[in-house]
Amino acid sequence: MSLLETPPMTDVEGPSRNPAVNEWVADVAALTKPDRIVWCDGSTQEWDALTKSMVAQGTLIRLNPEWRPNSFLARSDPADVARVEDRTFICSERESDAGPTNNWRDPFVMREELTELFAGSMRGRTMYVVPFSMGPLGGPISQLGVQLTDSPYVVVSMQLMTRMGVGALDLIGPETPWVPALHSVGAPLVDDAGVRHADVAWPHNPTKYISHFPETREIWSFGSGYGGNALLGKKCFALRIASVMARDEGWLAEHMLIIKVTPPAGTVRHIAAAFPSACGKTNLAMLNPSIPGWKVETIGDDIAWMRPGPDGKLRAINPERGFFGVAPGTGITTNPTAVDTVWGNTIFTNVALRDDGDVWWEGLTPQAPAHLLDWQGNDWTPDAATPAAHPNSRFTVTADQCPSIASDWDSPEGVVIDAIVFGGRRPSTVPLVSQARDWTHGVFMGATMASETTAAAEGTVGRLRHDPFAMLPFCGYDMADYFAHWLEIGETLGADAPPVFQVNWFRKDENGRFLWPGFSENARVIEWIVGRLDGSLDAISTPIGKLPLVRDIDVAGLDLGYEQLQALLAVDRSAWLVEAEEIASYFDELGGQRIPAPLRHELASLRAHLR
Ligand code: OXD
Ligand code: MN
Repeated sequence: MSLLETPPMTDVEGPSRNPAVNEWVADVAALTKPDRIVWCDGSTQEWDALTKSMVAQGTLIRLNPEWRPNSFLARSDPADVARVEDRTFICSERESDAGPTNNWRDPFVMREELTELFAGSMRGRTMYVVPFSMGPLGGPISQLGVQLTDSPYVVVSMQLMTRMGVGALDLIGPETPWVPALHSVGAPLVDDAGVRHADVAWPHNPTKYISHFPETREIWSFGSGYGGNALLGKKCFALRIASVMARDEGWLAEHMLIIKVTPPAGTVRHIAAAFPSACGKTNLAMLNPSIPGWKVETIGDDIAWMRPGPDGKLRAINPERGFFGVAPGTGITTNPTAVDTVWGNTIFTNVALRDDGDVWWEGLTPQAPAHLLDWQGNDWTPDAATPAAHPNSRFTVTADQCPSIASDWDSPEGVVIDAIVFGGRRPSTVPLVSQARDWTHGVFMGATMASETTAAAEGTVGRLRHDPFAMLPFCGYDMADYFAHWLEIGETLGADAPPVFQVNWFRKDENGRFLWPGFSENARVIEWIVGRLDGSLDAISTPIGKLPLVRDIDVAGLDLGYEQLQALLAVDRSAWLVEAEEIASYFDELGGQRIPAPLRHELASLRAHLR
């Protein structure tokens, strides 16, 4: 199962070609005092051994292999079910570099605090060394990391979500940059007096810290075993640390899905799209177009790393290997592709368990089974007052199992991005689709995104929150500097900069009903975007951007009248004047004069044109 099993603290020799990796592993072991160290190789045998031992331990439940082969259910502690944004810290040397949207801590102070917490935190446990690559192994846009963790659940999840194991370890040569990512659930099995305690199914610690050190490109995560708090390749590395790398090196690390669109005739297009958490991002990534002849294939569902390529065009990779998708709402009608993807080899977390040993969650099927065990293992029937699956319950599965995965999804050079889309959940004001006048206006669209809050982050649902570029909890540095960086990338790309669009599937009528059917019908909006890219469709210039002519949105076969479509595309000047005020005060919150002048000019021009 391992390349090497060593008792901790023998010496600093280890299997890495990079002495700093071996030293760091030895240093962390000396601090955290695990019983043993296992270097993970990413093999099937390793997966089998770890899942088997977690089943024996009670952390995983093996699902009925007839329905769901090689698949498992994990039930987390109810106090560890989501990312903890208020416990997420950016520890840059200067507070101003973290900016007003991040929790900042002095790196020296944070290191001291964490060192104390990590001291002995792995006693009685195994420390796993998890080498991983974000992006295809050896690719020009890819990056390497090593996660140390005392959670076997994290190890098997990292195996699904990243290119993990020997391949990644081999690539970390003596001079290769790599990101150290230290993780402990903070629940030692041996106490200070040396007494050993029994383990629990989901160990964690009420004290949680998700800390990032941008200058030294380090991650220290303590106390949580869940999702983005613990699978450190995802939000911590691929967004918070990578956004800082991208700023320093002239590229973009974004919270974006990537799709490949093939129209019935014409050019294949790749689109990158940013949506706040749980806005149907996975549904769009796996879109099953309702309109004849159109094909949409998946490249990524959550994160895009984009760089100007040798030809001057913007190229993107999905740095992940798998999907960590929100289960509720993923169903046989809303997203059959995702349902097919999780046929087997999947880890489910906090969904409900059927009596036949399969899984269920709200929205999977129109009707709930007559009896289930809910996400906490309690009896559940459809008349229960609480949901069977936790609203932030997840499936973890490799992308190559997705029936709609594009053949070039793991191309190391990435795909050329033809359009960038910004979305949000807006019951009013924002039209179904609009196009930015130019790159700067597109950056303004990204900077002014807002959405209703969701379950992926803890907090109240239904409030409107500004979420620039869908990066609010994920940008590793000052947001105004991040806007400036986007403007600079536009200058680098020049005429090759892809056009930018804004979409909103969630506009409601005066009775609170959704105006747009969404899901597979969103292909009709993609069709309009592609028409704009091809130059085959005109648009109307308005103060908020270029809008479709009502007749250009293809509604053939939809039960959607002209008036509804008009309402979807309406620019309500008074609502936009209020929006402009909102944006102005949000820009003030983000630092006022620190907001790049071109974006302040966009706001001034928006106000002037609305009046
Ligand atoms: C997620 C998110 O992808 O919160 O989990 O955005
Ligand atoms: Mn996300």
